[in-house]
Amino acid sequence: MNILTFNKRKIDKQKISMVTCYDHWSAKILNETEVDCILVGDSLAVVMHGFESTVHATVEMMELHVAAVARGAPDKFIIADMPFLSCSRGLEVALETVYRLMQAGANAVKIEGDTHQVNLIQHIVEAGVPVMGHLGLTPQSIHNLGGHKVQAKDEVQASKLIDGAKALERAGCFAIVLECIPTKLGSCVSQRASIPTIGIGAGPHTDGQVLVLHDLLGVNPEFSPKFLRRYADSHSAIQNAVNTFHHDVVERAFPSLQESYR
Ligand code: KIV
Repeated sequence: MNILTFNKRKIDKQKISMVTCYDHWSAKILNETEVDCILVGDSLAVVMHGFESTVHATVEMMELHVAAVARGAPDKFIIADMPFLSCSRGLEVALETVYRLMQAGANAVKIEGDTHQVNLIQHIVEAGVPVMGHLGLTPQSIHNLGGHKVQAKDEVQASKLIDGAKALERAGCFAIVLECIPTKLGSCVSQRASIPTIGIGAGPHTDGQVLVLHDLLGVNPEFSPKFLRRYADSHSAIQNAVNTFHHDVVERAFPSLQESYR
């Protein structure tokens, strides 16, 4: 996958798959899967560092995780989230952040929000860096949105979101993430946009789908939003493996002589 294939997929009506990834060992595993692209999302602040929200992701954190992922998944197209407020403190801060993420190994950056970001996005694209947009539930604005809720449920908000998608396309975004919006709106934006839409909680009609890797692997049984499908029960698998190891140690069944040096 590269920047040109995103659009080709849309034209050919072939869906795009994206998963988040934050570290080296899972990047190595993903590098050998068929998944189309990897997002080093700022959700790493929550999933990897235990913070309440993505507001706590810093440039340093993003940079470190992007570098680890890039070393593990050299064959994948890697998109890195621009962290909280890195796009609202002037062009210099934004470009410095883009520079650091690209130097760390990203192939593109993702920016949350619409109209207030259009000029900045245009500038970054003109500087030669592919930008992915992100509309609907934008977790960096969680305090403004009043929680993780489905967005753009009424007509005014829906048409605002459609206009936002058009503005992002005009600004030069190569794709847009649509998060937690009604299925009908996900479909409508996807039909109207000539760039691919990648949905999470946006219904089946978007041009692609993204999930947080840990969620699709079932690492956290307490997190079960409506849109999530779990493809594994890693929580139990990890606990069972570690408990089996523990019992083997306690019962002197590990290591065996075959697992020991002469
Ligand atoms: O940070 C993230 O993981 C994201 C996805 C949910 C799209 O932005």
